[in-house]
Order: sequence, then C-alpha cells, then structure tokens
Amino acid sequence: MADTKVYRASTTAPVNIAVVKYWGKRDAKLNLPTNSSLSVTLSQADLRTLTTASCSTAFQEDVLLLNGEPSDLGGARTQACLRELRDRRAALESKDASLPKLAAMRLLLVSENNFPTAAGLASSAAGFAALVRAIADLYELPSSPTELSLIARQGSGSACRSLFGGYVAWQMGSQADGLDSQAVEVAPASHWPEMRALILVASAAKKGVSSTSGMQQTVATSGLFQQRIADVVPRNMKSMEDAVAARDFAAFAEVTMRDSNSFHATCADTYPPIFYMNDISRAAVRAVEAINAAAGKTVAAYTFDAGPNAVVYYLEENKDLILGAFYPLLEKLDGWKDGAKGLKSNVQFDEAVSSTITSGVSRVIMTGVGEGPQKTDVYLVSEDGKPVSTSA
Ligand code: DP6
Repeated sequence: MADTKVYRASTTAPVNIAVVKYWGKRDAKLNLPTNSSLSVTLSQADLRTLTTASCSTAFQEDVLLLNGEPSDLGGARTQACLRELRDRRAALESKDASLPKLAAMRLLLVSENNFPTAAGLASSAAGFAALVRAIADLYELPSSPTELSLIARQGSGSACRSLFGGYVAWQMGSQADGLDSQAVEVAPASHWPEMRALILVASAAKKGVSSTSGMQQTVATSGLFQQRIADVVPRNMKSMEDAVAARDFAAFAEVTMRDSNSFHATCADTYPPIFYMNDISRAAVRAVEAINAAAGKTVAAYTFDAGPNAVVYYLEENKDLILGAFYPLLEKLDGWKDGAKGLKSNVQFDEAVSSTITSGVSRVIMTGVGEGPQKTDVYLVSEDGKPVSTSA
C-alpha cells in the first residue's frame, strides 16, 4: 500500500525591528541588499508567527493557509525558498535510500500570527522565517540558522534576521551569488535582556508604498542614498555593534534614532518622494525627545519602518518614566500590561504632541527583546492532514 502518512513539523518565529535599517537592493532577484543592517528580535510572547509544515503523497498541490485564508505560493520569492529547501532534502535522500521521499511530496503549510493583522505590523519577516524553519525541520535538514537565513532572505530581506533571537546582523556580503549575504547573531537576548520596546500603532491601514518598491525607487533616484550606503550605514553598524557589546543604551539609542532619521531622509529624497512617517510619527519623535530631556540623559529611542508606527526602545530600569509618559495619554487603548497601568511620570509634552498622540495612536504593544524560532508540538495540521486552527 502506498505511504500516505502525513509528515509534520511546527515552529514559531519572531518579529524583528531594525535599529540600522535595510533599505535598497543591489540584486532584486537574489534579494541582496545595498547595505548591512542590525535588528532586535522581539519577544514571541507578544508577537510571533506559528507555522506547521506538512507533506504527504495524499496532497495534490502545494497549499499555504495564512490566518485561515488561502495565500499565494506562486510568487518568485516563495518559490525560490521552496525550491532551495526541496533541493536540500533531495540531496539528503539521494545519499540515504532509507529516508522517506519527502522532497517529491506536495506541502500543506498553515500559518497563524498571535497578533491581529489590524495591528498594522509587517509580519513578512516572522512569516518567511517560520516558513523556512518549519520546512527545514520537516525535512530534517542539518542546516544552521545562518544557512537558513540565506534561504529566508530570498523570501523577504528582513526575514533572514528573524532566524535568530537577541541582537542580529544581516551582513550584506560582496559575492555576486549572495552566498555571503547572511544573518549572524551579534549577541543573544541573554546578553542584554533588559531591552524593552513600546510600539505605538499609528495606522492599521495597509501601507501606501511597499518596502520592496519603495526601496527600488530610492536606489534609482536618491542622491542622499549613495552617502547613506557608502558612509552612514557602515559607521552606524560599527557603533551599534560596539553599543550592544558594551550594553551602552545612550549610544544604542543615538545610533537607532539617527539611522531611522537617515533612512526616512532618503525616502524624502526619493523622486517622487515617499513619506512613511506622518503627523503621529512626528509627535512620537517629539515625545521621546521630551522624555530624554526630562531624564537629563537618553533613556528612550524611536525608530520607524516603512510605515507610521513608532517603536520606542528603552530599558526595564526606566520603564516608569517611559510608560508613565505615554500611559496617561493612551490609557483607553488595548495592549497595556499590568506593570504599566496607572503609571504617571512628570514628563510634560506640548499640547499639540499630546493631542496628536491621543487621537492618532490606535493601540499599544508592550514587548521586549526575545528568542529566535522555537520548535513546538502545537500543530496547525492534524495527523490526517487537515488544517486546524488554534485561534477558533
Ligand atoms: C524598513 O524585508 O520588507 O523594515 O526584502 O523587499 O521583502 P523585502 O523588504 P523588507 O524590508 C524591510 C525594510 C525596513 C527596514 C528593515 O527591516 O531593516
């Protein structure tokens, strides 16, 4: 009788938020960047993707279900990931005839986020990292996280950094084949576990210009961008690695804010210009400046990706100051944890800053540095090959 067994593996993968930003491709097909980048992996208790990869001779076609909805697997980037993973499995099978022939079977991939899509957070990094890790586990590939980062990178650049926890660099590499464009751990979460992030969600709407197309326009038209990749980012990478090694928050924060500003300046210098930050984002910048001024030192850092949400990094020891500055403005919103409720600091914001934040922020997420992908025995595919949901 034919083997119709359903083979399964499940993993969770985290979101990461860059403190030195990836922006620009030197090779769009291989997804090779114009500069290195560095990120903090965020805790999966608050933000994670759970993916089950399964395969069976009983499956007729490759299928991906994302938050319960069928999702396209036909895109060139996803196909590149699947092809590489299957090739690696096929190489193992050709060396060991006793292995089941998984590479030739169709895949059923089921994926769920533990945060609402309405949170307006980019989930492609966690999504591709989870997809690649789950299939690699299903295929029992001996690949290291750095080796898998080369595959996840082809799905979405920032995804390569989500294969690790803690503080992670994506080394841009110099080879034309991209085999040295990979993620490495700069420091584990345990090296600096006090790092926290408060996310101010300023928009639940889908972003106007996707990062993929935005960065292509910047590379093609911005003069400022040339200075960023030649000079600004190499300096920021070095300073950031030093700041993380020394657990120097003031240095970490300054590079984080300067690099975010530099990235958004190249967006404004794109022709026609691209604006990801809005009035709410700018009010968050002013709020962080007011907090640092009141503290008399740098205790908070803002950063913005390709959208208006503010991510504010701070250390646990300063939580009363940072959370106490924002909580009174946003106490009605979802997302506050017990430790923040009722906090009030004496930081004074300008009236315009307070009112913009109060009216513009729609939810908060309190999180912090966390671990990389975790294998789990929670499955989103049943033993007989049917999708199951954990959130129903
Ligand atoms: C601003 O990784 O989404 O968040 O490789 O085209 O999928 P693609 O782009 P993506 O870009 C992320 C850009 C960023 C900065 C960063 O995460 O480093």
